[in-house]
Amino acid sequence: MLLGNDDWWRDAVVYQVYPRSFADANGDGTGDLQGVRGRLDYLARLGVDAIWLSPFYTSPLADGGYDVADYRDVDPRFGTLADFDALVAEAHGKDIRVIVDLVPNHSSDQHPWFQAGLRDRYIFRDEPNDWESIFGGPAWTRVEDGQWYLHLFAPEQPDLNWDHPEVRAEFRDILRFWLERGVDGFRVDVAHGMVKAAGLPDVGAKDGPQAEMLGDEQVPYFDQDGVHDIYREWRPILDSYPGGRMAVAEAWVSSPERLARYIGPDELHQAFNFEFMMADFHAKSFRTVIEKSLAEAELVGAPTTWVLSNHDKPRHVTRHGSLARARAATLLMLALPGSAYLYNGEELGLPEVLDLPDELRQDPAFLRRGESRDGCRVPIPWTSGPGCGWRDPWLPIPPEWTALSAEVQEDDPGSTLNLYRAALRLRRRHPALGGGTLSWLDSPEDVLAVERHPGLVVVLNTGEGPVPPGVAGEVLLSSGPLAADGSIPPDTAVWIQRSGSVAGD
Ligand code: GLC
Repeated sequence: MLLGNDDWWRDAVVYQVYPRSFADANGDGTGDLQGVRGRLDYLARLGVDAIWLSPFYTSPLADGGYDVADYRDVDPRFGTLADFDALVAEAHGKDIRVIVDLVPNHSSDQHPWFQAGLRDRYIFRDEPNDWESIFGGPAWTRVEDGQWYLHLFAPEQPDLNWDHPEVRAEFRDILRFWLERGVDGFRVDVAHGMVKAAGLPDVGAKDGPQAEMLGDEQVPYFDQDGVHDIYREWRPILDSYPGGRMAVAEAWVSSPERLARYIGPDELHQAFNFEFMMADFHAKSFRTVIEKSLAEAELVGAPTTWVLSNHDKPRHVTRHGSLARARAATLLMLALPGSAYLYNGEELGLPEVLDLPDELRQDPAFLRRGESRDGCRVPIPWTSGPGCGWRDPWLPIPPEWTALSAEVQEDDPGSTLNLYRAALRLRRRHPALGGGTLSWLDSPEDVLAVERHPGLVVVLNTGEGPVPPGVAGEVLLSSGPLAADGSIPPDTAVWIQRSGSVAGD
């Protein structure tokens, strides 16, 4: 076990495991922790530095586990605490760190506090205000005696009252519970929630949906100043454990300056930079986002994060319109300074599943708002046999995914799996990759050309026709075949080891 660098997260490649969909060891159709354990060799070979486990805690799964009924236990569908301990020990043995998801904004309505009627730990009122749920409909539900409770998400996810000292104490204790078990960090769910504006003022009239996660304006339930007190309470706890325990925020806020407030030596280590995930497949829009993100990193003195896919957004093969584009965007992402968060299945080039029958969709957002995140949560195809290695999976796997299975891609040098492996291998070895700086090279409008120092040039062609690489050197990796004359076809990215000066200089 080589773990030990406290700053590991600064340029880490973190692989998000959505446990329900990743790998199923006991054959019940739902993935589990033993399944993850069984795939650690696969992950080590892929070359990731850490895994982030989406929630595996005791939960009715009203929101896929983001509705936690017991923050200190494993849901029987996912295994046991002993399975978790074995997973952490074995992952560490393979130099893979483990980050767990923490869901502090709300619990499940099955949590013992809610069940016992401890209303002061939640947000109950005699009358609702005008707040809307992110999943659609009012953010308030009425209980039998006429009171209403707040849920920014599904009614099964009552918001916790962070003004209550017991709530704060409980979460400090939950942090310690998992830190003691050896976790290397936390992904903080809805990290901009928790604290609501005093008096719960109405939002007032607004055009369009009020409760967008990413709004232009501040709403009274997100990104309130008081939330930072919580992180200032948590940071000393993280710092009191050895080995570089970290936290990354899922915070949808209105500007890079506001996001920067979550990061720093007395708050959280990182925050997801979702702008890259929202960028169009065009050199100009990538460049705008990269420059903005790097400026933000400068602001906080910590490297930024890059994300192309996660369990909440359509997979980037589909979002960008083709596998070729997804592979090119991936090579761009993995060459940028900072850390990268991968989502399980993107290394297989999985597309979004668009044609799931409505009656099988389970996302509460679909039930309330008609928008479903199930298409990116379809189980991972492991084998080329029927069912792709799953028996009766909780969401059906498209039959054509046998061709995308890890087994089929394993020995195909041109597969997306082997592209990710090669990229991650190079990223570990090459001194210009990981942390560090970048400079922009002159390039046509549809081409993005970036130099990482020393001497690694990334060229991405988002135009209609082939372009010359613009620099002389050895092609280390390419997201797709290059033309016979060495030019870069559309929707293709290359990593070039520069050997001379910019062509045409
Ligand atoms: C976060 C999660 C999402 C979940 C929501 C409520 O945005 O990523 O999956 O539905 O929080 O917990």
